[in-house]
Amino acid sequence: MILDLCCGTGDFTKIFSKLNPSARVIGLDNSIDMLKLAKFKNPHSSFIQGDCLNLPFGENEFDIVTAGFGLRNIEDRNKALSQIHKVLKDGGQFLHLDFGKHNLFSKIFDLYVKFLTVFFVKNPEPYLYLIESKNDYPEPNELIQEFEDCGFKMLKRKDFLFGVISAQVFIKG
Ligand SMILES: C[S@@+](CC[C@H](N)C(=O)[O-])C[C@H]1O[C@@H](n2cnc3c(N)ncnc32)[C@H](O)[C@@H]1O
Repeated sequence: MILDLCCGTGDFTKIFSKLNPSARVIGLDNSIDMLKLAKFKNPHSSFIQGDCLNLPFGENEFDIVTAGFGLRNIEDRNKALSQIHKVLKDGGQFLHLDFGKHNLFSKIFDLYVKFLTVFFVKNPEPYLYLIESKNDYPEPNELIQEFEDCGFKMLKRKDFLFGVISAQVFIKG
């Protein structure tokens, strides 16, 4: 069983379902509007409205938990990590994907988004929030340490776009 946390409109849920056709994939998000879109795009997956800080599942239920561009929005990250740890089976894996290093390329990305926002977007708030939350989120090395302090062990890390985006796979230790 796979749990896609902060699934939003279900784009990652769709990818995980395609990659694991025999697995049951559940998307969870606290926004009902996001979930409606997610269900529309993924009619065969299950979606649950819920809070990452209080997951509505028992211990050791999932083989894989994923969070793509999600934990950045959670203030009490330690609590979310302890919830993820709880619902994962022993030996289960946690895939975390989000913006990565705050480097030159990340600054170019910020400028690009600001440019698009100024010229093409009527409501710039979500894009400005994106840049702000991205730059407030710790860099991968710091996060990896934080996740390991919460009982995970990193198995693999892959950076994309010169480190602007980073994915890591952890195992429940
Ligand atoms: C940037 S979106 C990520 C969506 C999706 N994973 C993707 O990459 O397309 C972040 C999502 O986190 C959800 N979210 C924020 N706080 C949450 C919480 N405490 N519990 C569950 N979902 C939450 C928001 O509703 C939003 O849909």
